[in-house]
Amino acid sequence: MTLTPDDIRVPTRREIKVGAQDVHRWIQDMGWEVPGGRSKYPTKYRFDGGTREQFKLIVGEYCRMETEKDDRQYGSLLDGLARLQAGGRIEPRWAESMKFVSSFLELGEYASIGGSAMLLDAVVSPEQRNGYLAQVEDEVRHTTQLGYLKKYFASQYYDPAGFTGARGHRHGNPLFWSNRQQACETFVSGDPVLISLNLQLVAEACFTNPLVVAMTEWAAANGDEVTPTVFLSIQSDELRHMANGYQTIVSVIENDHNMQYLQTDLENAFWIQHRGFTSMVGRAFEYGAVNRAEPWAQTWNDWVIEDWGGIWMGRFSRFGLEAPRNLADASRDAYWAHHDSFAIAYALWPFIGYRIELPNDTDKEWFERHYPGWYSSIGRVFDRWKEIGVEDPANRTSPIEHLIELGKVLHICRVCQSPLLEVASHGSTAQTSGVYTRVIEYRGRKHALCSDWCERMYLQEPERYTGENFLEIFDGWELSEIVRATGGMRSDGRTLVSQPHLNSERLWTLDDLAACGVVVRDPHVAGVSFEKF
Ligand SMILES: [Fe+2]
Ligand SMILES: [Fe+2]
Ligand SMILES: [Zn+2]
Repeated sequence: MTLTPDDIRVPTRREIKVGAQDVHRWIQDMGWEVPGGRSKYPTKYRFDGGTREQFKLIVGEYCRMETEKDDRQYGSLLDGLARLQAGGRIEPRWAESMKFVSSFLELGEYASIGGSAMLLDAVVSPEQRNGYLAQVEDEVRHTTQLGYLKKYFASQYYDPAGFTGARGHRHGNPLFWSNRQQACETFVSGDPVLISLNLQLVAEACFTNPLVVAMTEWAAANGDEVTPTVFLSIQSDELRHMANGYQTIVSVIENDHNMQYLQTDLENAFWIQHRGFTSMVGRAFEYGAVNRAEPWAQTWNDWVIEDWGGIWMGRFSRFGLEAPRNLADASRDAYWAHHDSFAIAYALWPFIGYRIELPNDTDKEWFERHYPGWYSSIGRVFDRWKEIGVEDPANRTSPIEHLIELGKVLHICRVCQSPLLEVASHGSTAQTSGVYTRVIEYRGRKHALCSDWCERMYLQEPERYTGENFLEIFDGWELSEIVRATGGMRSDGRTLVSQPHLNSERLWTLDDLAACGVVVRDPHVAGVSFEKF
């Protein structure tokens, strides 16, 4: 199916008018009959089908009423923070970056409910089932907590756009797609044991430590008082989930039949989790902070390689299950991945759902000190963007124009959905590490893949990756048309949620973006990913 911009029109809230009486009339039409009733025990009584419900409470009203109660209850906490003006003390750069992070985590928590419920259905041991059931309950709690975190920011931080409305417009954000693939698709589809490996053995046991625990330190250093409290409360449940992941392995590892799959499935799960988490978390920390903690590459090495790959995975070696063989490739990838990811986010700023800014002189000094060679590869691209005036809408210039000049082509990995663009060469040994973009042809379609590992996953189950990617769906669309169709505007309907700077003045509108004259192309058809007209 080919979509054109004219096919899509998002109705405004004002256009959707529903009166209270309409709703009650509809409810009368929505009845259904179940032969014999549906409750566990049959009844000897006969019911009158015209019975009214005294409160005439429908779900929408119920939610509004209960929200008010919750507000009053949580209100004392909120009130305290509001009186201290805690929301105003958060570094704006950090709060902006939290727009992406909270939206991503909310989806991950929601998908975790489904994933642990699927495991509950799959296993045969009642005790093991009970462990998964407890996790279902935890993940419901976490989903609510993330909703609360977003609500806090939306009400206390001065720019709520991006905390509100993100559930809609994040689907027009190609960077979000890779996290959706990693923390949603793999948690709710495929073999239940593979789900457990993705969710519990890798995402929870390996990546939530550097994400959730390290983030508390980064958040506090940037004036964010609420994220550490919420995250540590979430993390207090993770031990149970890691134990579930351990028990999943224990429940299958004694059976020789299972061992033909286990090592490969573990590597696949590790790779897809790494591709989603590593670049996103590093980007959020180092480019979302004003005050920085330990460099991400160091944190990554301590938690992922030593703690998880060494100690946690070491517990399985006596059963014949080894740490994933792609750990070394991942660690080479982890050094630059978040820098490239920030550059991609900045180049595609109209879609990313938050306000982002280029590194200043203090930032540049920190990056060069901790990532030697940073400036001569990627840092100077940021300077060039500043020079051509991509921040000010009056210049009508998109960072993409510089990428076109450099002849850069954006691809999207068919498996992990990562946007692939080497903005600058890092002089690394990419070819030998197996992490470099390649395009293969299968069943008459072209597929970009980021690495040997995603290529192997693709060839194992090509039927799993048949959807269209961002560039295929929006082939031929001008940038502002995509933002309009995916709802990335503020409440005035024309100013963008995303901005390439943090000033409150000179905000880009749909018209400014349209004036850049940049069109997205599918590189498999056009050979380029962007054109300027
Ligand atoms: Fe969770
Ligand atoms: Fe969890
Ligand atoms: Zn990939």
